[in-house]
Amino acid sequence: MVCWITELLIGLVYCLTFNKFTHSLIQYKVPVILGIESSCDDTSASICVDGTILSNIVTNQAIHEAFGGVVPELASRVHQQNIIPAVQQALITAKVSKNAIDAVAFTRGPGLLGSLLVGVSFAKAFALAKSIPIIEVNHMQAHVLAHFIGNNKPSFPFLCLTVSGGHTQIVLVKDYFDMEVVGQTLDDAAGEAMDKTSKILGLPYPGGPLIDKYARLGNPDAYRFPEPQIPGFNFSFSGLKTSILYFIRDNVALNPNFITENLNDICASVEKRIVTILLNKLQKAAQFYGIKHIALAGGVSANTGLRQGLNELGDKIGWNCFIPEMQYCTDNAAMIAIAGHYKFLKGDFVGQDVAPLARMPM
Ligand code: KG4
Ligand code: ZN
Repeated sequence: MVCWITELLIGLVYCLTFNKFTHSLIQYKVPVILGIESSCDDTSASICVDGTILSNIVTNQAIHEAFGGVVPELASRVHQQNIIPAVQQALITAKVSKNAIDAVAFTRGPGLLGSLLVGVSFAKAFALAKSIPIIEVNHMQAHVLAHFIGNNKPSFPFLCLTVSGGHTQIVLVKDYFDMEVVGQTLDDAAGEAMDKTSKILGLPYPGGPLIDKYARLGNPDAYRFPEPQIPGFNFSFSGLKTSILYFIRDNVALNPNFITENLNDICASVEKRIVTILLNKLQKAAQFYGIKHIALAGGVSANTGLRQGLNELGDKIGWNCFIPEMQYCTDNAAMIAIAGHYKFLKGDFVGQDVAPLARMPM
């Protein structure tokens, strides 16, 4: 009791002395992590207090739309402009003072080297100025760990289908940082298949959300695209992309208005094939490992068809399905901050000589 009152008094004095915001009283006892994400084209900053996300600011880069894909040099320049405002906004939204931060967690890789460099350099400089430690985070592990934001957390072991613009993985998650990739794409990623299809259809980048939007209005059985026969739990999407390209080219040769007249049906049929490829492999892996706790992660997990498909399959088989909130599907710093929180608890820090990695195994 005396101890508790003393702590409260010290907290109050601390709060008044340093003119902190409301969370400074909490931070006196619990870890406050600043998370930074800059692996591709989204600059994001997040504040995590004792495992609870208080802010998650994501700044998108519209500049790439005109080029039909992310231009790495432009991405890193825009990250430089966005990173300080994103961090300031994350602090304001969370009502946390920058002096309250205990550690900075940042995406070390995988990703675009120039983009990563901006986040890594910011994290190092901030930590150096504040004399606090830095925590490296693997972007693909962070997508999985987004499931530990909020109350509905999966228990170990679980299988996670991580589907993003650069990766398609089935991950056996044994513990927070003990993950094994048991299946992955041999060529294009699922998000890439979405984006390349939209490019073929003349839609702007990023195409995944647009395929999703038009697919809702179309017939998923209008056209049949092939399902690749790849052994084990691996995936391939490059053959599908080629078959879509030839299908569109041949039909446009016969009818120049083919795309505009059939956009919804094309999107619905392509989405259906991508979703069945993903879910068939996931089902195979879940059966092999005897696991019924199944999670979805990465940008493509925002896809309506995939979310519905997993829920339906899960109901049929008796899986316990975990589907992230929309804001934690695509790239975000909250997933970096929550990964940083668990590493902070282990005292897992890195030195100031840390450098970004374009490739970073799980
Ligand atoms: O995880 P993420 O934000 O970035 C990477 O780490 O790559 O994933 C981006 C990918 C893009 O390919 C984008 O088109 C796709 O996720 N995506 C979607 C949807 N929202 C984003 N694909 C299908 N349906 C969506 N609603
Ligand atoms: Zn990602």
